[in-house]
Amino acid sequence: MKKYILFLTVSIALLSGCKKDPQINDNGVIESDTAFIGKPFVFPGGVNSPRYRKIDIPTDNPMTEEGVLLGRMLFYDPVLSMDSTISCASCHKAEFEFGDGTALSKKIFNQQTKRHTPTLINLGMNKRFFWDGRKNTLEESVGDALLGEQSYAFSITEARLKNQSRYTYLFKKAFGRPGNITAENIHKAIAQFLRSMVSIDSKFDKYMRGEANLSSDELEGFDIFNSNTRGDCFHCHADGPYLTFANQGLLFANNALDSSATLYEFKDYGLGDFTANSFDNGRFKIPTLRNIEHSAPYMHDGRFKTLEEVVNFYSDSLKYSPNIDPLMQLFFQGGSRLNQLEKQQLIAFLKTLTDESFRNNPKFQNPF
Ligand code: HEC
Ligand code: HEC
Repeated sequence: MKKYILFLTVSIALLSGCKKDPQINDNGVIESDTAFIGKPFVFPGGVNSPRYRKIDIPTDNPMTEEGVLLGRMLFYDPVLSMDSTISCASCHKAEFEFGDGTALSKKIFNQQTKRHTPTLINLGMNKRFFWDGRKNTLEESVGDALLGEQSYAFSITEARLKNQSRYTYLFKKAFGRPGNITAENIHKAIAQFLRSMVSIDSKFDKYMRGEANLSSDELEGFDIFNSNTRGDCFHCHADGPYLTFANQGLLFANNALDSSATLYEFKDYGLGDFTANSFDNGRFKIPTLRNIEHSAPYMHDGRFKTLEEVVNFYSDSLKYSPNIDPLMQLFFQGGSRLNQLEKQQLIAFLKTLTDESFRNNPKFQNPF
């Protein structure tokens, strides 16, 4: 009898120790607390190879499958804009590598953006965001984008999201109970989605992994890209041999795009807008060249419509200003002065950076 009582007490103690507060989810199903913890997000194999820069995941925003999915829904949902007309994807379009095919994009209330919409590729490996580098984290960048491009007002958005059970459910899954719908969690979820947007399967990646060959023209273009005396592109557009991003020591440069007799005649001050240091006027974020074939037009104002125009510019039309980057080493002769064949070979090489599986990745497409 004594034994029986002991057994009973122990079982009750054990049972009550593990007892979970049952919760009814939005589909009316009773779930325990553990069901509110999302599944850890797993990046595609190969991303963690040392050939790529490490993806920077803040400790207070670990990635879950549910968080990434929520971020993807919010990315495509115009519900976040003041008048429910514009989503991130209105400007960051899949077919342009999540950039835009026009020089400037249309914002809310028919206004134009100040600058060209950039691509969103491997941003988790990047340290500074926007052409003028005004943000240091993806979470802050999402907040900036929402306010700047979509005239986002959280109080309006909150009410709209709370009315949709798919959102209340996913916020809980993504951020654990209570999973409140807050501006901070909106930023975190979209940042998770942006971090998931990884491109590592271009022909160039495959070549570096020994899985594909480059043609003789492409190889010659690679040499032009990497040579001090020929194209001289690698100084700024490479981060080690793998071109995952820009030169991480430099990040910003004046690439002799515009003439300015002093430091003050640039139409757009770029980095100088943010730092208020006149030496930074005319300096811009060095963009990734990944998937460059499909992200025309080019530069912070979208002035060049084709890669031919870009290469002609670097070859023959560099413009003087007092703070041209010293790494524009061929400026003294007006540019790299490539001949027609070399220009074509350089472009052939740039096209090896195209990763068809990125733009077409079903995990990045409109989930609605
Ligand atoms: C109206 C068009 C438009 C919309 C809508 C828009 N963006 Fe952008 N985005 C831009 C432009 C233009 C820039 C560059 C602005 C600058 O650098 O000054 C930019 C820059 C960015 C950057 C910096 C990229 C880099 O390489 O540094 C991120 C990240 C970003 N947007 C994310 C988003 C997200 C997330 C949303 C939705 C919440 C969004 N954008 C909505 C046009 C848009
Ligand atoms: C001194 C650093 C530097 C060098 C060297 C350099 N670039 Fe750039 N590149 C930049 C910067 C900075 C930008 C953005 C400038 C802007 O928009 O104002 C840029 C923009 C570009 C763009 C447009 C990208 C986009 O998404 O709009 C292409 C393409 C490009 N460079 C290719 C090249 C090639 C090819 C070479 C070699 C012939 C080269 N670059 C050499 C710094 C450099």
